[in-house]
Amino acid sequence: MFEFLQAAPADAILGLITEHKNDPRPEKIDLGVGVFRTAEGETPVLDVVKLAEQRLVDTQESKAYIGTAGDPNFNAAMQDLIFSDSVDPDRIATIQAPGGSGSLRVAASLILRARPDVKVLVSDPTWANHIPLLGGAGVTLETYAYYDTDKHVIRIDAMLDALGKADAGDVVLLHACCHNPSGMDPSEEEWKAIADVVVERKLVPFIDIAYQGFARSLADDAFAVRHFAGRVPEMIVSGSCSKNFGLYRDRVGSLSMLAADKASRDIVFSQLNSIVRTIYSVPPDHGAVVVSTILNDPDLRAAWRVELAEMRGRLREMRVLLNEALIGKAPGHDFSHLVRATGMFCFLGISEDQVNRLKRDYGVYMVGSSRINTAGITAKNVNYLADAIAATL
Ligand code: LMR
Repeated sequence: MFEFLQAAPADAILGLITEHKNDPRPEKIDLGVGVFRTAEGETPVLDVVKLAEQRLVDTQESKAYIGTAGDPNFNAAMQDLIFSDSVDPDRIATIQAPGGSGSLRVAASLILRARPDVKVLVSDPTWANHIPLLGGAGVTLETYAYYDTDKHVIRIDAMLDALGKADAGDVVLLHACCHNPSGMDPSEEEWKAIADVVVERKLVPFIDIAYQGFARSLADDAFAVRHFAGRVPEMIVSGSCSKNFGLYRDRVGSLSMLAADKASRDIVFSQLNSIVRTIYSVPPDHGAVVVSTILNDPDLRAAWRVELAEMRGRLREMRVLLNEALIGKAPGHDFSHLVRATGMFCFLGISEDQVNRLKRDYGVYMVGSSRINTAGITAKNVNYLADAIAATL
C-alpha cells in the first residue's frame, strides 16, 4: 500500500524548526514558528504553570477518563475568560479541545454536519494551516480581502464589500486579535462595521482567538467575540492556551458554540461530544487541568496575568527595537508597520527571494511570506538582524 504514496512536503511553518536546528552557524536567528521567547531566546515553562503542576502532582487522585467534553471546570473558566458576561451563558456550549487546531477541526466537522454545502470565508492572508486544516476536513473555503501588503494596512472597505456579497448562512473566520500572519487587527469601530455586515447578511462568525492577552489586554483582545456575542444568534469560537499559557506541546484549547437558545445549545453540545468521539475520543487532560487550576485560583490567576503582561510587553519592545535599528541601517525604507502591528507576528514586507537570501547568507529564518515572529528578536541579535535585512534590500 505504501508504494502509492509520495513524500509530503515539509510544513511551511513547522519545517523551519528543523532547518534552524540543523544550521551550525552560532549567529542564526529563528523568527519562524510562533512560540514566545525570552530575552535569552528561551521558551520556558511559566512560573505559574510550574506552581499549578506541582499542586496537581500533590493532589490529583485519578487519571481515569473524564469524558468527550473534557474538564467542566476548564470549560467554564475558558468560556468566562473569552465571553465574560457579554451573553447568557446558557446559550453557549463549550468543550475542551486538543489545542486551537483540534478545536478548529471539531468546528469543521460540526459545520459539515449542520450545513455540508456551506462556505467558510477566510481572510487573505490567513494562518498558513487554516486552509489545509479546515479544507482537509472537507469544508469549502473562499477568501475575503484583508491585508494590503504594500501599504501594510487592513483593506477594510474591500473586506466589508466581500462580506457584503457573501451568501446568507456562510461562515466567516475572523481572528479576534494578533492576526496571524499580518499582526494587523481591526479597530473597535471597524469590528462594529464588520458585525453590521455579518448581521445584515446573516453570516455566522467563526472567531479564532489564539492569542488572547498578547495584543492589548485579556478584555480588549476579546472585544470582537464579546461584541458579536451581543449581536448574533449563532457563533463559533476557537480558543487556545498554547501561547498565553505557554502550553504549546500540552495541546490545550477550547471550542465554544453560541446558539440561539438553550434548547439549540443542548443539541449542539450533544453533536460536539459525538464528533469528538469519532476523531480522538477524549481530549488530553494535563494542560487543561493546569489552566483550570490557574484560572480558578485568584492568586494563581493574578500571577498568570503578570507573566502574560510581561510576554506582551517584550513582544512590543522587540518590534520597536527592530524598527529603530532598521531606521539607522536601512534609510529610505519604511518599517513603521512593525510598530503598528500587535502580538507575535507581522510581515517584514520583503520578497520570498529576499527571505531565502536571509536564510542562506545570514541564517535568519522566517516564513516565506516574510512573516516574522517578533519573539525571536533580542537586544543582542537585533543589530545583526537589521544588518542582514538591510543587506538584502
Ligand atoms: C504559528 O503560526 O507559527 C503557530 O500558530 C504555530 C503553528 O502551529 O503554526
